[in-house]
Amino acid sequence: MTTQSSPETRADQPVLTVPEGPRHARIHGVGGYRPERVVTNEEVCTWIDSSDEWITQRSGIKERRFAREDETVIDMAEAAARDAIAMAGITPDQISVILMATVTHPYQTPAAAPLLAIRLGTNGPAAFDISAACAGYCYGISLANDMVRAGSAEYVLVVGVEKLSDFTDKHDRGTAFIFGDGAGAAVVGPSDFPGIGPTIWGSDGDNWDKIMQKESWTGLRGDMTDPAGGAVEWPNFAMQGQSVFRWAVYSIAPIVDKALAAAGLTAAQLDAFIPHQANMRITDAMIKHIGLPENVPVARDIAETGNTSAASVPLATARMLNEGEAPHGGLALQFGFGAGLVYAAQVVVLP
Ligand code: UT7
Repeated sequence: MTTQSSPETRADQPVLTVPEGPRHARIHGVGGYRPERVVTNEEVCTWIDSSDEWITQRSGIKERRFAREDETVIDMAEAAARDAIAMAGITPDQISVILMATVTHPYQTPAAAPLLAIRLGTNGPAAFDISAACAGYCYGISLANDMVRAGSAEYVLVVGVEKLSDFTDKHDRGTAFIFGDGAGAAVVGPSDFPGIGPTIWGSDGDNWDKIMQKESWTGLRGDMTDPAGGAVEWPNFAMQGQSVFRWAVYSIAPIVDKALAAAGLTAAQLDAFIPHQANMRITDAMIKHIGLPENVPVARDIAETGNTSAASVPLATARMLNEGEAPHGGLALQFGFGAGLVYAAQVVVLP
């Protein structure tokens, strides 16, 4: 592809060689990993003053998984990524970019993605992390789609992974029952047909503080000690639940209409609706908002997995495919939203 020289270009200046494009992209494989330990509502109620009935009614959560103390986001990401790579039928050395969506890798820098690249035996791909909380996976799918379409990558591994149990105050009534741990992954690569619809995404920084890290640790896990020798408190996520709930149900529900319209589809043409697993009541309100026909399967992974932030959409997708709830090759509307506040929705063809 050649482009016209700008007025500032020297007459003898060579024209850059750039990839031909755009081409189509699709998701070739997905995978999910759930840690072994099941944490029931009954167990949570030994830490906070609550009940199984209240948690089930207000959130739809019955249980969640917690990673082992020595199990890291890299360990969980590796397991999910291996499944996605196997389903895609490629080898790790074919991956040219790794995007890791996480807010619980305990280092600001270096990123988690280069470590995952080593674990998987890839060939030194570009590797970086995305901080877009519960929208991180859908942000990643959008970036991967653009990279493959534009030709800057061949296969992109997108991972959403969280170890939220490390960043949750077990005694905070507003969050202790919500969060869980897990990982989900997808391989995005070239396609003969359009496999990822336009992403409708954005942010609402006025609500920046509605879900954020706070130094609110009660001390049970001990202090982080800074290099100067002083003790600093371990940060945990604090959430203004009601405000986020209202934002999700009233402000951003119309985003799903826009993602459908941008893909040229109606709700009745969907084979699956896979919203971020934040709260079963939010999912139900969104279903009502878009007028989703009853026969369209809806992800309800939250009941057994809790809210796993960036991992929630790919984990729910992997479950729906594994359990035959959503068809391979079908059309799924996925929608991530959370801390920032940020959101992203797109229709994808399921692998
Ligand atoms: O992943 C990122 C996006 N996150 C979300 O979208 C989460 C959005 N928010 C939510 O899902 C909900 O706000 C929660 C599930 C977190 C909370 O449900 P809620 O219906 O908004 O509860 P609330 O905070 O309005 O509290 C209602 C009542 C209060 O009692 P009173 O004042 O009505 O007597 C609370 O004190 O429930 C009480 N309460 C609890 N009771 C038992 C609050 N937390 C608990 C608890 N157990 N854990």
